Amino acid sequence: MRLAIISDIHGNLEALESVLSALKNEGVEAALNLGDLVGYNASPNECLDLLQDYPVWHLAGNHDLALFDQDRAQWFNIIAHEALVWCREHLRPEHMEFLHNLPLTLEKENFIACHGTPTSPDTYVSHHFQGKRVLSDLRRQALHRVCFFGHTHKRALWYRDVRGKVALQEITSKKIRLQPDCHYLINPGSVGQPRDRNPEAAYAVFDGEEFSIHFKSTPYNVAQAQQRILAAGLPPYLAERLGLGI
Ligand SMILES: [Fe+2]
Repeated sequence: MRLAIISDIHGNLEALESVLSALKNEGVEAALNLGDLVGYNASPNECLDLLQDYPVWHLAGNHDLALFDQDRAQWFNIIAHEALVWCREHLRPEHMEFLHNLPLTLEKENFIACHGTPTSPDTYVSHHFQGKRVLSDLRRQALHRVCFFGHTHKRALWYRDVRGKVALQEITSKKIRLQPDCHYLINPGSVGQPRDRNPEAAYAVFDGEEFSIHFKSTPYNVAQAQQRILAAGLPPYLAERLGLGI
């Protein structure tokens, strides 16, 4: 099965439209959304409307969960919190209900998926010790070779080989064949707020039969997304960072 892996859309309609348009040429059967449909950007209702017609497995991200959880929301920085409050005020009731019922993880035949880690939507996998911990758990449970995750808004391909070595594999524009005896932690980057200094909307295509991952990105109308943020009265920094990919 060819599967689109998307994450951290964060209400960026222009970025999502560009990714869905690019996916028409990818021959994917479905998409896997690793969470954070809302927050930061100004079009959460429009993004949720658009995804209704698309075959997607959705997971809950920490921003989706914080809509309903004051304790979780209090740990957000001021700008993220302001955007969250805006979302609570503007999301349509049917979308709130949809977001309220999202699962934290998804397990299929050849992968597990989560927002942060399989045990916490709030935990980041950014550093070696964090990748090592999740990959060790994956190996111990002996269920899946691949774990998809998001949350950091940065692409990553962590691997653990048969000798227990854990490292980051270089990501190129070419398709990457995965090794059948390794375990992998794969982050496709963010659709709606990339933070690896490339403003393009990021996604990836996973081929389960071939056992490969292809990291991709697509340009979108950043200026229009920025304009929507400013028009909505959200913090101007949220518009600025889209142009910088931070
Ligand atoms: Fe996020």
